[in-house]
Amino acid sequence: MPQKVILDVDTGTDDAVALMCAALHPDLELVAATTVNGNVEVQYCTDNSLRVFDHIGIPVPVYEGMASPLVRSDFPKARGDTASGAVHGRHLDIPAAKSRQQTQHAVDFLVDYYMSSAGTDTILVPTAPLTNIAAAIKREPRIVDRIPAVYMMGGGHEIGNVTPSAEFNVWADPEAARVVFNSGLKNVTVVPLDATHRALVSSEDCKRLRALNTPAATAAALFTEKRIEGYQIVFGENIGSAPVHDALAVLAIVDPGVLASVVEVFVDVETIGELTVGRTVLDTHNRLHKTPNARVALSADQDRFVSLLIETLARNT
Ligand code: RIB
Ligand code: CA
Repeated sequence: MPQKVILDVDTGTDDAVALMCAALHPDLELVAATTVNGNVEVQYCTDNSLRVFDHIGIPVPVYEGMASPLVRSDFPKARGDTASGAVHGRHLDIPAAKSRQQTQHAVDFLVDYYMSSAGTDTILVPTAPLTNIAAAIKREPRIVDRIPAVYMMGGGHEIGNVTPSAEFNVWADPEAARVVFNSGLKNVTVVPLDATHRALVSSEDCKRLRALNTPAATAAALFTEKRIEGYQIVFGENIGSAPVHDALAVLAIVDPGVLASVVEVFVDVETIGELTVGRTVLDTHNRLHKTPNARVALSADQDRFVSLLIETLARNT
């Protein structure tokens, strides 16, 4: 039986690749995608997710969620409005969606789904700001005992990407991230920038993807090439490769060996300070004497990840 998953996304070029991996890998069954304000405004995340599923010919229900962070009004900015728009852009460069989003709100869907019998064997995979997840936990705290495991892309220990301290998904809604890390969720695996920046996808890999000539592989090549160009523009990094963060979190479910240097630690989130807001603080030396609440991957196996990515995207007919 394939492992059921729900992806909470802000699609986004790397979320798009993650969605395709989740929809195509035979060991996974993508039950639904929920969308949230992040890389682009939520309505574009929804539209982009629909475009992806139409493009690969696999219908997956898409539920639109929160349009702004849990409590603050000063971090509503989606990345499409910033220089990082170069990495994503508002619309993914694939044909417009024909399918339509579900009418239920994503937070209501998550609460209803996880309180139903189906919920207890479905892994939750947030690859976006944690607003929907925190809102669902606040609405129905009992869902934390029903979600069997979480694989989350977010945070950074030695690397930030919005500030030297903070990774985008956590920075964009730090209060929500704090709710999630302190909620009592079990079996939480965190895939931070430390791992994703050690699992880069190169221009050469994009050529291999294009050669497969499947809709998924061709789109993934297009999105990854945009990311490689975008990283040059935004960070001045001309290394001919880029992280495809969110796909690593998805593929870690089917092959934990794509992650490396995994530590089990207590993680909390800083919510104040110009230079520190949004920082994931890993208590690597147990200074707080708290029970670990996450397994955090501090590295990755690039070759293993890229091979699995290519194999997965080849499966689209
Ligand atoms: O920092 C990387 C994360 O921020 C990824 O999930 C990307 O899609 C953006 O949301
Ligand atoms: Ca994302």
